[in-house]
Amino acid sequence: MGEFMKKDMFVLGIETSCDETAVAIVKNGTEIVANIVSSQIESHKRFGGVVPEIASRHHVEQITFVLEEALEQAGMTMDEIDCVAVTEGPGLVGALLIGVNAAKALAFAHNKPLVGVHHIAGHIYANRLVKEMRFPLLSLVVSGGHTEIVFMKEHGSFQVIGETRDDAAGEAYDKVARTLSLPYPGGPHIDRLAQEGEPNLDLPRAWLEESSYDFSFSGLKSAVINTLHNAKQKGVTIHPQDLAASFQASVIDVLVTKTVKAVKEYGVEQVLLAGGVAANKGLRAALQEAFEGVEAELIIPPLSLCTDNAAMIAAAGTVLFQQGKRGSMDMNAHPGLDIENF
Ligand code: KG4
Ligand code: ZN
Repeated sequence: MGEFMKKDMFVLGIETSCDETAVAIVKNGTEIVANIVSSQIESHKRFGGVVPEIASRHHVEQITFVLEEALEQAGMTMDEIDCVAVTEGPGLVGALLIGVNAAKALAFAHNKPLVGVHHIAGHIYANRLVKEMRFPLLSLVVSGGHTEIVFMKEHGSFQVIGETRDDAAGEAYDKVARTLSLPYPGGPHIDRLAQEGEPNLDLPRAWLEESSYDFSFSGLKSAVINTLHNAKQKGVTIHPQDLAASFQASVIDVLVTKTVKAVKEYGVEQVLLAGGVAANKGLRAALQEAFEGVEAELIIPPLSLCTDNAAMIAAAGTVLFQQGKRGSMDMNAHPGLDIENF
């Protein structure tokens, strides 16, 4: 029987682009066998953001443990791994380098093929751990560093049809949270406050040109700061819950409207939500509601697969590996890696 059975493929993924040290093992690109994430958020909190030097240092300290833990969770040895996939970029260069070097050392020592993965391609492929992808599809990518709508006509093909012209959605969340003196990362705190407030403050929505799928969030961020400032000067109290709800309503309105419009124009089979801000309760609910009357199937990953992890890197890496992509021992970290050509 064995000789007729297709051999399972196990890809080990490594992710160190920002503040999570993560290693995962994924079977056949769709099934998580192990998924370990070591977060450094506590170390960065008191600085109000990620400090690159501290991030690199943590990755160095954690990577071996996280790797061992992943193999242990899977009950596997490196002999059973078919390929090592690693985030090549974008991200913090010093942080990326730790993952890239660990992946190269591992691939070299165990004589395994290596494949470089774009971090955002990883976020998109987190969805394949939930449901098989059907093309063509669109992905709404909303993370700390990126906000874009990506069109995929097939596996491994990424076309950015719209992106932010200034701040990413997550960045706007974190900056607004900071003005409200909330801890880093602010997204989840704003999300929680927003559930308790009313969107009764008039904040702008940057629609940009009629035909554009681009985004802009810096004007909204400034409007929030001005609203707070003016209220303070006039001695008016603004409930942070209402400000959070109004800010969140503006972000969600633009994200959902542009995504629905793109789905109609591109006639896609599926829409995949991706990136850290995909964990946002308001956004998840608004998308679900908006897609009730839309043909395309909406996929929203569980929270643990929205924020940075290595299972998504292994999932994307599996497809790239199957398509013949190979990294070499001179692989470098690419902080500005382009998703359309990597
Ligand atoms: O994808 P991610 O983990 O890291 C990057 O690749 O950037 O995204 C992190 C971002 C942070 O800005 C964080 O505040 C935001 O995702 N985030 C949220 C929520 N959870 C995380 N933003 C809004 N609502 C949330 N529930
Ligand atoms: Zn990310």
